[in-house]
Amino acid sequence: STLGASAAERGGRYFGTAVAASRLNDSAYTTILNREFNQVTAENEMKIDATQPQQGQFTFGNADRIVQHARSRGMQVRGHTLAWHSQQPGWMQNMSGTALRNAMLNHVTQVATHFRGQIAWWDVVNEAFQDGSSGARRDSNLQRTGNDWIEAAFRAARQADPNAQLCYNDYNIDNWNDAKTQAVYRMVQDFKNRGVPIDCVGLQSHFTGGSNYPSNYRTTLSSFAALGVDVHITELDIRNAPTDAYRNVVNDCLAVARCKGITVWGIRDSDSWRSSESPLLFNGSGNKKPAYDAVLAAL
Ligand code: XIL
Repeated sequence: STLGASAAERGGRYFGTAVAASRLNDSAYTTILNREFNQVTAENEMKIDATQPQQGQFTFGNADRIVQHARSRGMQVRGHTLAWHSQQPGWMQNMSGTALRNAMLNHVTQVATHFRGQIAWWDVVNEAFQDGSSGARRDSNLQRTGNDWIEAAFRAARQADPNAQLCYNDYNIDNWNDAKTQAVYRMVQDFKNRGVPIDCVGLQSHFTGGSNYPSNYRTTLSSFAALGVDVHITELDIRNAPTDAYRNVVNDCLAVARCKGITVWGIRDSDSWRSSESPLLFNGSGNKKPAYDAVLAAL
């Protein structure tokens, strides 16, 4: 079997990967992609700097290529990401106040409208909370437009593509006891209480090995799910790809009915943003690693 086919048999879940448009003409890469995965996320091509490099000028070529590759093969697409403090184009980095708020909302509307009907889940907002013990919002030009910028982005996304599931996505929200996890939990709870349109939470899950894959990860997944949102493991990679940690992540997702699927952040180690850590399921030659076998066996 394959990762995608096995996940589909587990309650219709998906097993996906981040994809780079520049690799779609590498046949070793696309052979694995097309065989193993039934979901894709554009690694960089839907980010703000890629889709609106100059204010008011939208470029969708590379993102469209990924969407077309995926959808023509029955793979679901995760949109990543509409509003984020990072990978902003220069013109946006230099903005503030009402002008930035309006530019952000226009970006959300234009991009979600362009892809309307093609995106199963949008990461509407990415990485808006601070690390550490404060539980505070991350300081950023977007945050400085007002604390309601996140809900404003979600409302604009819902209006532009009513059929997409809208997610909040972040890292270091894996350990249930962390202040950052609790702060995101309280935001989602507040959004659900007030009717702000949110459907899901994405846990990036960039792990550094046994050390930060928390034993209470399953509690975190089920606690978010109990708020009435789906949970997704959106950017999984684990330093040195230990088989036990990969197996545990799969088992934790399978144990939570609202955990809809797992996306690994790249195909081969050589494709990874953390390539020196060999964190993925295939080696640079495209061969399956022990972690691949552990994941497939767990699915
Ligand atoms: C990373 C990409 O993998 C890199 O190619 C790029 O240079 C930087 O961004 N959290 C996210 C992803 O939400 O978008 C990031 O992707 C990894 C961390």
